[in-house]
Amino acid sequence: MRKIIILFFSVLFVACTNDEPEMILKPNGKVALPAELSAGNATVFMTSIRAYDTPAPWVTGTLLDRFLHGDKLYDDPRTSDQNDPAVGGLGPLYVGFSCGSCHNNAGRTYPSLFSDGGSGKGFSSQLVYITRKNGKFFRQYGRVLHDQAIVGEKAEGKLKATFEEKEYSFPDGEKYSLITPHYSISEWYADSIRPEDLIIDVHVPLRHVGMGQIMALDVDQLRRLAAQSNYPEYGISGRLSVITERNKQYVGVGGNKAHHADLTVELGFSSDLGVTSDRYPLEVCEGQSQNIGYSHYGIQISTRDMEDVDLYMSTLGVPARRNVNNALVKRGEENFYKAKCHLCHTPTLHTRQNAPVLLNGTRLPWLCNQTIHPYSDFLLHDMGKGLDNHVPAGSAYSYEWRTTPLWGVGLQETVNGHTHFLHDGRARNLVEAIMWHDGEGAVSREIFHRMNKEDRDALVTFLNSL
Ligand code: HEC
Ligand code: HEC
Repeated sequence: MRKIIILFFSVLFVACTNDEPEMILKPNGKVALPAELSAGNATVFMTSIRAYDTPAPWVTGTLLDRFLHGDKLYDDPRTSDQNDPAVGGLGPLYVGFSCGSCHNNAGRTYPSLFSDGGSGKGFSSQLVYITRKNGKFFRQYGRVLHDQAIVGEKAEGKLKATFEEKEYSFPDGEKYSLITPHYSISEWYADSIRPEDLIIDVHVPLRHVGMGQIMALDVDQLRRLAAQSNYPEYGISGRLSVITERNKQYVGVGGNKAHHADLTVELGFSSDLGVTSDRYPLEVCEGQSQNIGYSHYGIQISTRDMEDVDLYMSTLGVPARRNVNNALVKRGEENFYKAKCHLCHTPTLHTRQNAPVLLNGTRLPWLCNQTIHPYSDFLLHDMGKGLDNHVPAGSAYSYEWRTTPLWGVGLQETVNGHTHFLHDGRARNLVEAIMWHDGEGAVSREIFHRMNKEDRDALVTFLNSL
């Protein structure tokens, strides 16, 4: 509590002026170093399981009430009691039973597919996209495989993975191995789909660290970054994601393919949970043969409630960096630059001048004019064959991915109890994540590969300080 009060007074006057906060005091009373402030006035000094799930220091009063309401709507398991406005409206088909079921503590729930030899006991927390080879979707199923259903309904199918493991070694002899997942689906509810015509694309959830700041990014800055982000000597050239939605063009910054321009709250409720809204009034299973004649219960979540979820995600604090002056961390930081990681994982960006506006019109002036350290350029990069998922999305080709922001990456193990990384969770630790970089990331991977063990360890220690 003490921390919140101190921070609140020190940042009270920065809303939408050009003044950066002069100083922010840490809970121990010391002035925070610039490198520690991951997201300016929204930085929180938390290292516990709540590190991603704490309001920014300026979230007080009615803003805090709405934050807590949004948090509850986000976390409380929904039920199939279609008439209860607080938690009702799940399914009939769904993938998760609340936003928090997949984004536990606003993070990345453990992907259970990696246990039990790929059959993954219980709830998987993944999104499984299914597409025909020609890019179209299957009429009986839609784009997302809904592997859960309420009582009396049939889930659409069940995913299974097998893993191919290969061992490699660094020049100094230290061994590492990489696993490639191969997927299949059984127990289709309707016609079985021929494997020859099926592309299965599995994604693990993204951490919600800094969602508000990401949505408040200055798009012109990203445009300039894309124009400059061309390093032929390293084979790197980032591309801005421009997407067309409802006949308008937007710059995409959200999602692993930068294919979302907003927080997709409505889409999450509709497609992941089967909860209807004004924007998506029909059950997600609409049109499936098993649900012809399925009775409708009207709109199951109001735009006002969804805005509180939007507000909750947008006003989450961003964990401060730790151990920034530790000698090993400093050495790792130098190695991060030596390995050219920073050419995609851009350390510093700025949020824009105008206050972001949420779904229902609420403005958040606190998010503007902040210096932030997301460690991403939010651009698309060719990451090579190994990570190609064979499915384009938005303006991204199948082999292109948005640079994943690395802020908070070092706390994922504390918050979510695992170290699975990359869009499908195939990397089991940070070293494997780096060794999967290919295409535009190949030079970085090679420089890392050639480093001696102390330098590799230092780089990983640096990542863990983010
Ligand atoms: C079944 C698991 C699941 C559920 C339930 C779920 N999500 Fe997600 N979410 C994901 C996955 C997987 C991704 C990454 C998708 C991709 O690859 O772009 C994601 C991405 C996101 C992103 C983009 C994050 C970023 O960094 O750009 C937001 C925002 C989000 N989810 C919000 C929500 C909200 C709000 C809800 C509840 C209405 C929700 N999610 C429910 C699995 C889930
Ligand atoms: C060419 C641009 C580029 C370069 C250079 C690059 N990365 Fe990445 N990085 C990416 C992209 C794109 C992803 C997402 C890939 C995916 O999920 O399939 C990623 C993902 C990651 C992840 C996984 C994060 C997560 O939460 O899943 C880590 C860790 C990472 N990079 C670290 C590094 C380090 C360390 C270096 C330097 C040795 C580096 N990267 C160099 C583009 C780059």
